[in-house]
Amino acid sequence: MYNDNPTLEGLKKEIDESKQGEVFFQGEAANTADAGNKHFYIESYGCQMNFSDSEIVASILAESGYRPTRNMEESDLILINTCSIREKAEETVRKRLRIFDKVKESRPGTLVGVLGCMAERLKSKFLEQEKLVDLVVGPDAYRDLPALISTAEEGDKGINVFLSREETYADISPLRLDSNGVTAFISIMRGCDNMCSFCVVPFTRGRERSRNAFSIVAEATDLYEKGYREVTLLGQNVDSYKWENPETGAPVTFAQLLEMVAQVHPDLRVRFSTSHPKDITDEVLYTMARNENICKYIHLPVQSGNSRVLDLMNRTYSREWYMDKVRRIYEIMPDCAISSDIIAGFCTETEEEHAETLSMIEFAQYSMSYMFMYSERPGTLAERKFEDDIPEEIKKRRLQEIVRLQTATSLQHNQKDIGKTFKVLIEGDSKKSDQDFKGRNTQNKMLVFPKKSDLQPGDYCYVKVNEVTSATLIGEIVD
Ligand code: SAH
Ligand code: SF4
Ligand code: F3S
Repeated sequence: MYNDNPTLEGLKKEIDESKQGEVFFQGEAANTADAGNKHFYIESYGCQMNFSDSEIVASILAESGYRPTRNMEESDLILINTCSIREKAEETVRKRLRIFDKVKESRPGTLVGVLGCMAERLKSKFLEQEKLVDLVVGPDAYRDLPALISTAEEGDKGINVFLSREETYADISPLRLDSNGVTAFISIMRGCDNMCSFCVVPFTRGRERSRNAFSIVAEATDLYEKGYREVTLLGQNVDSYKWENPETGAPVTFAQLLEMVAQVHPDLRVRFSTSHPKDITDEVLYTMARNENICKYIHLPVQSGNSRVLDLMNRTYSREWYMDKVRRIYEIMPDCAISSDIIAGFCTETEEEHAETLSMIEFAQYSMSYMFMYSERPGTLAERKFEDDIPEEIKKRRLQEIVRLQTATSLQHNQKDIGKTFKVLIEGDSKKSDQDFKGRNTQNKMLVFPKKSDLQPGDYCYVKVNEVTSATLIGEIVD
């Protein structure tokens, strides 16, 4: 679910960092009929939830007459949607703010706004530390943006970091920015009630709440009708989705929601992220197995392969429990791919315990992982209770060992696909050549293959795999 991996300099990067700091462009917004003359520019960092939130922000701004632009120099409002998950993520934001300061100096009157998790974490401190910032807006306060902008235009600072127990932006139709027109995210819940000891998210995103199931299905239907062919249901912990139909009092579980979205159309693929191992149920696994269009891919972050460390992390499962979950997934769906998030060098982790994380990669046969060095975050349980006592060099070395093993495991995983034929949803041109398409199979693996003239993005085709790297399958279309 997370895109950046700033700790891997010098190593082959497994992580798609290309989206970090992505500048959103017109997309559908170019056609926004009632858009005014003012322009906003927005950069997003962090997880997919943040990218999805930027589309909600864009929709709110379009309603009040702002058009998106890719050119910071011509914008009246520069926004940065921020992440606090690791120290490096916050440093990146500070660096970008220095650039925005320069634009502001050359174009007085330009407003700079900080949105998202770092705004929530630092609140008014941000305005003290960053004198040129005009707006500080937390993840639950985006409806207030037009009013806050007016305040800032009058020369006062605009701040709203109120966290809500209800806000899900259910009625807001996100403005799909910089979209490929084929795949889209749908937020199904907000916040997180798990208190993983290392994690800042419960503090920056507030309490967990689930969005109206009918509004989710309506959004998926609308996307399908507009030509989209894949939706990813997003939440920090999607398996604890729970919404009660106010008319009937009947609860909707995540498994039921999955089925409802899968029924929108057999050609609409459904993905979801992230699953907490403690909450994913057999009902979800059987629902996946039953529906061809629910992709056979589960992001199931383990964090550590050792039970004592998992206990310190407050993940509420043990190594053995996690292994049983993995076995269950492969038992119900032998062709399912599983990926993970892994933290190297959490407080007090020993070499033996680190070795158990390595062996978990082999056991679970992850198709890929997002891998990080532990970064202590202010206010978290771990910061208050434990010492961040693993020296930087040791964290780095452990991370390198994890990355090397995962890269080899990903390569082996992909090598098993040589000679196989997969149904692929074409997403667009490959990064390297406009003669090639790229698209994913159900296991979320990226395939690259020569174009065929009668096919276009949004079409499905069958691709036979001829060769692989640790990150990509290379093949050709077969009939
Ligand atoms: N809700 C998701 C994860 C959200 S954060 C889940 O429970 O899996 C994405 C990932 O960032 C986490 O899975 C974790 O691996 C990593 N992460 C979170 N806090 C971190 C910290 N303080 N230091 C290093 N990595 C961290
Ligand atoms: Fe953070 Fe844990 Fe919540 Fe994920 S489940 S967002 S790691 S507290
Ligand atoms: Fe996401 Fe970063 Fe916030 S990972 S929830 S943007 S702290």
